[in-house]
Amino acid sequence: MLDEKQKLFQIIDLGHEIAQVKDVDILLERILTIARQFVNADAGSIYIKEDNRLKFSYTQNDTLQNKLPTGHKLIYSTFSIPVNNESISGYVAGNGTMLNIEDVYKIPDNVPYSFNKGYDEISGYRTKSMLTFPMTTTRDQVIGVLQLINAKDRDGNILSFVKEDEPFVKHFANNAAIAIERAQLTRAIILRMIKMAELRDPKETGAHVNRVAAYSIEIYEKWALGRGIPVDEIEKNKDIMRIAGMLHDVGKVAISDVILKKPGKLDADEYEIMKQHTFLGARLFTDQYSDFDEASSLVALNHHERWDGNGYPGYINPFTGHPIVGYQLKEGKVPGKKGEDIPAFGRIVAIADVYDALSCKRVYKEPWDEDRVLETLKSERGKQFDPEMIDAFFDSLDIIKSVSSRYPE
Ligand code: C2E
Ligand code: SIN
Ligand code: SIN
Ligand code: SIN
Ligand code: FE
Ligand code: FE
Repeated sequence: MLDEKQKLFQIIDLGHEIAQVKDVDILLERILTIARQFVNADAGSIYIKEDNRLKFSYTQNDTLQNKLPTGHKLIYSTFSIPVNNESISGYVAGNGTMLNIEDVYKIPDNVPYSFNKGYDEISGYRTKSMLTFPMTTTRDQVIGVLQLINAKDRDGNILSFVKEDEPFVKHFANNAAIAIERAQLTRAIILRMIKMAELRDPKETGAHVNRVAAYSIEIYEKWALGRGIPVDEIEKNKDIMRIAGMLHDVGKVAISDVILKKPGKLDADEYEIMKQHTFLGARLFTDQYSDFDEASSLVALNHHERWDGNGYPGYINPFTGHPIVGYQLKEGKVPGKKGEDIPAFGRIVAIADVYDALSCKRVYKEPWDEDRVLETLKSERGKQFDPEMIDAFFDSLDIIKSVSSRYPE
């Protein structure tokens, strides 16, 4: 057991750790993982305030997780509840105070809030102890709620959350609030950038880019775990991938309306111009200040390369548009990059982008039914797509489908 001073240092460190995370989805995952470890909670959830409601935004549950086959993720659906005194998290958000409840099935009648057993009834889980904190920014605004469920001892017996931990969790929840606010701003700025492209290209919606990015991190994680990449590195790369994935088509801002908005099939010349969105996008990240810029540039450049070498724009310098020295033109054209010459992030986004493009309506096409989409992806294994990445895609399909329902058109 850590003493108070060690705990204080630890919680400060953990605050620094979450301050590094840029993407809001990745951040919620980190916050909950860290907070649960700190108090040894079996489960937990994060609610984010939107308008005057709390949106159930992320959850973890070791007991339910352990019932799943290894490598499978817990699938949950989002819902929202009003900020009022009736629910536990609604009370905490509305009053800005924490609640440390020993057993949510034994809440006395003289308090306004009650526990909704409906969730337990669906999942078969028994929620008992619950520590619920508001996440409060420096401007005293509650941006959400951190809820930790079922504190455990070493043998897995359920205990109450100890009073001594409350100040640490409070400190951490408030650090989390600041980090979430910043990540929400980053997400909003990126979506605004994409909206500028969308004004010109109505089908590249915020929902599309969110889905492509979210699928990409699932594929990446599955692939990277299979390759034995260290978990720290995976976490960092997921954050980078989430942001770079959203920006894959940002080069379309530079393509003329006539081509972008053409309701029918592009002719060969138009398609040649369209292909430039790859390196034009990459050029937007010329000043590579961070890993995020570098990855965004690589993803924009490489998301239409094909594993078999028949993709585009191929071995060019994105800044000049000229072939990279040493690559011979093939029938007057720059050859496509092949296999592992294509950066991993590009190989991943290629799959996520086509999966989404085929599944959805476009100005130039109707949505395909799911079987046809999946058959097409499978048949392109080792041709258009990296075979290992396609396997990772199919291994993550259940979570990918649940992600897709979080970002409807
Ligand atoms: P996008 O709509 O985001 O599509 C991304 C990729 O999904 C396409 O890259 C392609 O690999 C795949 N895809 C989309 N629809 C189909 C389809 O019906 N069949 C097959 N087999 N694959 C499909 P691609 O082809 O390099 O296109 C890049 C971008 O160029 C597209 O992005 C879209 O913005 C534009 N584009 C491509 N073809 C047309 C077209 O016929 N008309 C119009 N207006 N735009 C097109
Ligand atoms: C909560 O309110 O914090 C959880 C949902 C409920 O049981 O009321
Ligand atoms: C094309 O040949 O225009 C690309 C295929 C498609 O996106 O429909
Ligand atoms: C960021 O670095 O967080 C913004 C995304 C980018 O410019 O790469
Ligand atoms: Fe593209
Ligand atoms: Fe796209």
